[in-house]
Amino acid sequence: MKIAAIIGSNRKDSYNLKLAQFVQKRYADRLEIEIVTLNEVPFYNQDIENEPPAGAAALAERVKKADAVLWVTPEYNATIPGVLKNAIDWLSRGERVMVGKPSWIMGASMGLLGTVKAQAHLRDILFAPGLSSPLLPGNEVYVGAVHEKFNADGDLIHEPTAAFLDQVVHNFMTWYHNHQKGFSNV
Ligand code: FNR
Repeated sequence: MKIAAIIGSNRKDSYNLKLAQFVQKRYADRLEIEIVTLNEVPFYNQDIENEPPAGAAALAERVKKADAVLWVTPEYNATIPGVLKNAIDWLSRGERVMVGKPSWIMGASMGLLGTVKAQAHLRDILFAPGLSSPLLPGNEVYVGAVHEKFNADGDLIHEPTAAFLDQVVHNFMTWYHNHQKGFSNV
């Protein structure tokens, strides 16, 4: 199964990027995860949405080719970062590549609540008509105090989090296979 993992942080040493890379490596036998960063996606502008700039077109193409999208995002000021919202706005227009495309969400932050508010907002956004993305129910991955859970080499060293991710990946795959036929009809 092909997954586009969209990272909500453009930071070079992003913990959310590290989390996505951990998932990519740990489940490589089951999931083909392509990491998608948003550095090259320009600001959305409705004037040019029918001839999108290369960065926005490439993003849509990568999502289109994937069977599902994994959103891995920090929380900025109690919501999702602007770069992520900007990318979502592009994806909601033109071919509307997210419609019927299944999603699941993970997030990491230095705060104890680990992106609870950002993920609540993201779930709401993904239900907007231009997105209409079927979302994995439950299985909410909030990695709080993330700076204590990764070592200097970028490896996740917090066993309970790794064990929880094992369960979530299993649940995602079961959900995907059980509901696959209905996704495109949304
Ligand atoms: C933050 N951070 C943060 N953390 C949190 O738990 N709740 C929040 O509302 C915010 N707000 C916030 C705003 C801005 C502008 C910044 C730069 C940071 C801290 C955040 O969790 C931390 O910087 C993470 O390391 C960001 O994720 P990446 O870049 O490591 O993936």
